[in-house]
Amino acid sequence: MKLSAQLLQDMVQYNAPDVRRVSHALKVYGYACILGQAEHLSEQEELTLELAAALHDIGIHQAERKYGSSAGTYQEKEGPAIARAMLQKRGVAPAAAERVCQLIGRHHTYTGIDGMDCQLLIEADFLVNVDEDSLSAEAIRSVREKIFRSASGKALLNALFGA
Ligand SMILES: [Fe+2]
Repeated sequence: MKLSAQLLQDMVQYNAPDVRRVSHALKVYGYACILGQAEHLSEQEELTLELAAALHDIGIHQAERKYGSSAGTYQEKEGPAIARAMLQKRGVAPAAAERVCQLIGRHHTYTGIDGMDCQLLIEADFLVNVDEDSLSAEAIRSVREKIFRSASGKALLNALFGA
């Protein structure tokens, strides 16, 4: 089985029976796959993008348990350790696992984006959140201007939520 499918399976098991979280991660993973291919990432970046997309919100339940909040900062704090254990168990190479954990730990931080895997993870998450959080037209315009950089990400955003 593909590594990303293995980690998706782990993510489903970990989050079950929280179908909403599982569906969120699957949707972000789907957009991340499209963007990674469309933007011609290196094989390594495509892997780190896909694995990070599958696991990006893995810290949410732990954050809710520990802090009573699913706020971005808490899940960014809790996510990497949970993800690291999953990635190790599936035999993901240490350098890739480290990068995935780094992406999980900063996916709500929109400054200092240090690679296309990072940029596209953030865009994929927004493509899902615009819909799930019912963002206003104005908020969508602002996200398009301030966050989206890739041509493929902008094209998806425009196609789905208007230019
Ligand atoms: Fe997310």
